[in-house]
Amino acid sequence: MKLKSLTCISALFLIISLPGIAQQKNKFTPQPGLLATIKKNFADADAQYKVLAKNLKPGEFPKAYHPETNKQENSNSGWWCSGFYPGTLLNIYEENHDKALLTEADIMLATLAKEQYNTHTHDLGFMMYCSFGNANKLNPSPEYKQILLNSAKSLSTRFNPKTGTIKSWDSKPSDFLVIIDNMMNLELLFWATKETGDSSFYKIAVTHANTTIKNHYRPDYSSYHVINYDAETGAVKEKKTAQGFANESAWARGQVWGLYGFTVMYRETKDKKYLDQANNIAKFVLNNPNLPADKIPYWDFNATNIPNALRDASAGAIMASALLELCRYTNKTDGLRYFNTAQSIIRTLSSPAYKAEPGTNGGFILQHSVGHFPAGTEIDVPLTYADYYFVEAMKRYQAFAVK
Ligand code: GLY
Repeated sequence: MKLKSLTCISALFLIISLPGIAQQKNKFTPQPGLLATIKKNFADADAQYKVLAKNLKPGEFPKAYHPETNKQENSNSGWWCSGFYPGTLLNIYEENHDKALLTEADIMLATLAKEQYNTHTHDLGFMMYCSFGNANKLNPSPEYKQILLNSAKSLSTRFNPKTGTIKSWDSKPSDFLVIIDNMMNLELLFWATKETGDSSFYKIAVTHANTTIKNHYRPDYSSYHVINYDAETGAVKEKKTAQGFANESAWARGQVWGLYGFTVMYRETKDKKYLDQANNIAKFVLNNPNLPADKIPYWDFNATNIPNALRDASAGAIMASALLELCRYTNKTDGLRYFNTAQSIIRTLSSPAYKAEPGTNGGFILQHSVGHFPAGTEIDVPLTYADYYFVEAMKRYQAFAVK
């Protein structure tokens, strides 16, 4: 399939990264010093992503970089993270207008397009909405819309009315595994209903979110990573972890996937119960005695070796981006706390402790994320989604400066 080239854009569109921006009630003032840092970060990110592009063979997507061996790990388009690289290229392009990044994004989108028919993963929201969703905002086109719609249809095939959820991971037939991360794939379904008027996508998203509130969350608003359902009856069989420290622990990225996901749920439905859920998750995270002063979480809030546990920059970046949306919807006191926390995170991630020197780090922007600690993979490495949500958070922060 020939994708319409984004490089043909004659006029640039300012993408405001928050679709619900018109309904904002809070307005906060960004710091000029941090805005200047962000401008430099975008220039450095532009240079870095050209380094990253050089480390890829045709058809490959970046996955991680291992500093100790100077080895880059790449994937094919079926890996759950394949949308982040083209999405980040587009987000940097939108800022810097560097056509080289747009050309690279076009190439990656053409390779990724076939995943619209992939019905073996719940990650189509990450893969297709973070890539084609951004492409379609930048340059709306019937081809992008069709790809997004087909992706939403593929994702919907994984919904089970008995469990009231989309299946996350395929496993043995007696299992029906749903992970908290799945909250991030619902935005694609809302897009599909808005685009087509077909409410079935919206209903699946709302049902999945309601079931998630019921079964994934503990009374303190921390979440389990994995719920295993009986696919026939919908009963909960197990509550456990896969990527966290323990079944009863609070895996950091899982907490912030939920924070981001329920913020989107509120934006898309205006149902206050989702705003309450997002605020309660934010309070669990922000009031947690194990959240470090610089607000970059340890990889698990209950890791045993805190304060020597590894930090997860990806969790920090996702949290910053989510809080910069949630702060617009909530009361002024909480909103200010969220805005200030996001500001601290962006400042910390912009420091040499996390942001790589241009030309190093395999071309990734950020260092020090944790992918899958229990499996021993992607530990203390740069990851594409840390970069994606860091760039998104910086754009959201800058949007507060737009009068
Ligand atoms: N399973 C997606 C993640 O590692 O957050």
